[in-house]
Amino acid sequence: MAQYKIAWLPGDGVGNEVMEAAKIVLDALKFDAEYIHGDIGWEFWCNEGDPLPQRTIEVLHNTDCALFGAITSKPKEEAAKELIPELQDKGYVYFSPIVRLRQEFNLHTNLRPCKAYPGNPLNYKEGIDLVIFRENTEGMYGGVEFHPIPQHVFDALCTHPKMKKFGEKGLENLALSTRIMSRQGCENIVRQAFEYAKKHNRKSVTVVDKPNVIRETGGLMIRTAREVAKDYPDIPLWETNIDAQCMWLVKNPLDYDVLVAENMFGDILSDLAAQLVGGLGFACAGNIGDNYAVFEPTHGSAPKYYGQYKVNPIAMLLTTRLMLDWLNEFDMANRLENAIATVIAEGKVRTYDMGGSNTTLEMAEAVASKL
Ligand code: IPM
Ligand code: MG
Repeated sequence: MAQYKIAWLPGDGVGNEVMEAAKIVLDALKFDAEYIHGDIGWEFWCNEGDPLPQRTIEVLHNTDCALFGAITSKPKEEAAKELIPELQDKGYVYFSPIVRLRQEFNLHTNLRPCKAYPGNPLNYKEGIDLVIFRENTEGMYGGVEFHPIPQHVFDALCTHPKMKKFGEKGLENLALSTRIMSRQGCENIVRQAFEYAKKHNRKSVTVVDKPNVIRETGGLMIRTAREVAKDYPDIPLWETNIDAQCMWLVKNPLDYDVLVAENMFGDILSDLAAQLVGGLGFACAGNIGDNYAVFEPTHGSAPKYYGQYKVNPIAMLLTTRLMLDWLNEFDMANRLENAIATVIAEGKVRTYDMGGSNTTLEMAEAVASKL
């Protein structure tokens, strides 16, 4: 029997191509695993009304962790139009399957390292080495939303003096998305950030929010961060606002190290940070819970490139490295990262985004040849 069982979720579009690339390096590493395919993505939404069918959830329950390619995602009205005729107007509502996986498996921590590998022509500055911890199940992604606002919800909110004025516009004209955060959620993500900083000798942890305006949720985040920081007296905690932090990341990216934020702000920060080190072709992520994890590059399914084996698989390969790390296969994880770094530094094999013309699989073969 193989040592590991890995749920294999290619998803849509180029997700399939970058997963092929991942398989090339995993085989070169002689990673001992059984890969169990799971259906996920647009095709299953259109034909079954569910982009994450129950049978896929079962696959996840029966594996150690999942490797995920990419999915196509659309706003709910557009998604509804693409259902097969038999499923039209039957009440199916599209929800992003990756957001659902995060919620249903309580994958509370989204780990997003962004490192400028020397020699990458897309680096904004050499030496950037950021690690983002994004809370992954709460905040604006909690899914508690209304449009229009039901009367009873409105009435309950009217105990707040600032709510009344919105009533004058008519409830049918109002939309409400909530940002609900728990002390446990804040504490967990900040602690993960500090633990990481301690283990990897990082110089600081920066908590990013907007407590001067979003006083209650932002305030909870900052106060909780200060509490947690007391357990790590050697690591300074910096506090910044999301807007200023975006500016400073562009201005002085080398000043920052580990960054921690709630869900939505973490989403924004991680795209900005990814672009500083080469963009989507380099952005890897791990959605990590207590007993399960789903590893995914943060890029989408890139329909316009699908079928061309053109996209850069490095994001997927770095994601694979995060998986190996999580499985405590540190030696394989390090070898893979070094191989990727070597191929980037040599500059002989480059995909189109890096100014070259090599294919997805040529890049994977180049990395595999260094293992
Ligand atoms: C990400 C993506 C997702 C998110 C989308 C695809 C739902 O942007 O992983 O950062 O917003 O979390
Ligand atoms: Mg995002």
